[in-house]
Amino acid sequence: MTSLVERRRPTPPAPTDPMRPVPYRLEHLRQETRDTYTLELAPVDGEPLRYGAGQFTMLDAFGVGEVPISISGDPTRAGLLEHTIRDVGAVTHALVSASPGDVLGVRGPFGTTWDVTDGQGGDVVLVAGGIGLAPVRPALLELLTHRERYNRVVLLYGARTPEDILFGEDLRSWAKDFGVDVDITVDNGQHAWRGKVGLVTQLVPRAGFDARHTLALVCGPEGMMRYVAQALVDRGVPPYRVRLSMERSMKCGIGLCGHCQLRELFVCVDGPVLTYDRLAPLLTCREL
Ligand SMILES: Cc1cc2nc3c(=O)[nH]c(=O)nc-3n(C[C@H](O)[C@H](O)[C@H](O)COP(=O)(O)OP(=O)(O)OC[C@H]3O[C@@H](n4cnc5c(N)ncnc54)[C@H](O)[C@@H]3O)c2cc1C
Ligand code: FES
Repeated sequence: MTSLVERRRPTPPAPTDPMRPVPYRLEHLRQETRDTYTLELAPVDGEPLRYGAGQFTMLDAFGVGEVPISISGDPTRAGLLEHTIRDVGAVTHALVSASPGDVLGVRGPFGTTWDVTDGQGGDVVLVAGGIGLAPVRPALLELLTHRERYNRVVLLYGARTPEDILFGEDLRSWAKDFGVDVDITVDNGQHAWRGKVGLVTQLVPRAGFDARHTLALVCGPEGMMRYVAQALVDRGVPPYRVRLSMERSMKCGIGLCGHCQLRELFVCVDGPVLTYDRLAPLLTCREL
């Protein structure tokens, strides 16, 4: 006979299928630059998604396709789910062309995190190139909620042109309100640009941080990450304290299909955030 207690026990929720997209409604669409937009999504049913800084979701523009996109919002606040997307092809174009009220599919969150708390008590250096600032933003927002636990926080950011600089208001506030050392460079500056011109790699040797007590987080094109990681190691940052967020073509996002394989690694589950000591031998193999 079933006891009263057993009968009152709630039925445990059915395990969710990681391959089934969950419907999310687009609440706001914010244009960041000429080709980059931030989408703010809310679940059609249920709770906001919990995630760690550095994780990504598979975003589905129904009928067009599904792509991996990093979460760009604040992981310490439950709220709208943010993704910042550069319009480069069919699926990203469909995603940034959605209108408020439209429903998109979300799978995840997937992958490893930046684990920014490992930098507590020391300096943290974040280096981003282009759209790479989007995956780095959650790590910065997380550490700024406990700013007093970190010493120097340095953000080195490279964009193609001044018009391509992402999160302009954030950059100003991080510097002014939180004491982040923000240093920006562009590949091509017009006459009105009074800032630096050159590669973000060139900012590393002069940036003010104590290399031996630094955690470094790097995201951008693979070539840029290779040079930045080496420049950080040359400054004295231990390779295991340098973390890179890798991009690979992905299909399943959960370690089943092999699309994202990088020699022995499946970037969707072993990454996207990986340490440089593990990645260095793979980054030098251009054919992989
Ligand atoms: C873990 C992870 C996180 C990502 N996070 C973000 C993010 O936060 N924001 C964002 O905008 N994108 C992000 N991307 C990249 C994004 O997934 C691709 O831009 C997208 O898959 C392209 O799909 P598409 O159908 O729009 O274009 P496609 O038709 O697949 O490609 C169109 C053109 O863009 C080029 N292209 C494709 N992928 C990339 C890429 N990764 N980088 C540069 N050029 C590319 C192709 O070579 C082609 O020329 C991430 C990728 C991974 C693996
Ligand atoms: S995307 Fe399928 S194994 Fe990584």
